[in-house]
Amino acid sequence: MSIEILQTQKLLASCEAALAAKYTVHRLHEAADKSGLLASLKDRVRGVAGGGVDAKLMDALPKLEIIANFGVGYDTIDTAAARTRNIRVTNTPNVLNDAVAEITIGLMIALARRIPQSDQFVRQGLWARGTFPFQVELNGKTVGILGLGRIGKEIAVRAQAMKMRVAYYGRHRQPDEPFVYYDDLVAMARDVDWLVIIAPGGKATERIVSRQVMEALGPEGYLVNMARGTLVDEAAMVEMLQQKRLGGAALDVFEKEPAVPAALFALDNVVLSPHQGSATQQTRDKMGALVVANLDAHFAGEPLPSAVV
Ligand code: 8YV
Repeated sequence: MSIEILQTQKLLASCEAALAAKYTVHRLHEAADKSGLLASLKDRVRGVAGGGVDAKLMDALPKLEIIANFGVGYDTIDTAAARTRNIRVTNTPNVLNDAVAEITIGLMIALARRIPQSDQFVRQGLWARGTFPFQVELNGKTVGILGLGRIGKEIAVRAQAMKMRVAYYGRHRQPDEPFVYYDDLVAMARDVDWLVIIAPGGKATERIVSRQVMEALGPEGYLVNMARGTLVDEAAMVEMLQQKRLGGAALDVFEKEPAVPAALFALDNVVLSPHQGSATQQTRDKMGALVVANLDAHFAGEPLPSAVV
């Protein structure tokens, strides 16, 4: 019998096929009786493919050795609990940098130039009756990046290609980076036209984009969230967008996905996207391959390609 692993979420067909070829896969997300399945697998499961693993699930699987998360963000995995139980955790970094950076710039242009609304304007036959309102451009503006990590850097170079100035906020200055560093998020928000959020989720960054930060960004400022909904005070953001105290927002992520605050649907200073930063076939295939590569390396006793714990 091959090594038994537990899959916790739907994965790409290519990833599921690669897993099934090598492992005995049990699908927790499809089980009607989850606790029954876990009880029957108690001493058998040695690996998890997917996210959403808390301490309780780890305790239900005492033979668990590795959790291979699908995604660069691993905020749905209790890494502290994994560490104390000697369970390795891996993620899928780098392979998605370009895809996320591309759609970030895409959403910024969509918001600035009102692309979704102009498409509707043409489809609804409004063009014959008048011109579409003028919009704003990215060039000459300043973007502040919250989280100048691997993806943040890819966004930064693309923003420069748009002739934007780039600043960043993070815990540490990165001396090798040419961009202006701020150690104060409110100060950066005050100085920039665009604030792009691309920092990890989790407790450390919860609501880091507070009402005060959004007030500093102001009525001419635009917020772009490509990270996690938890980084923003969502209720304050909705209220400020409604009152035009925040200029606009392009949002790929939300606090309670797939639920989106209904108030946003009525606003035309907002572009909405269904958490699809990495959602291309080419990138998702690479992410899936990295999940499998991490499991394979672990069970072969080799170094893990992308370990976080
Ligand atoms: C995925 C992501 O949508 O990598 C991440 O952290 O947010 C996305 O690429 C998600 O992880 C898929 O489950």
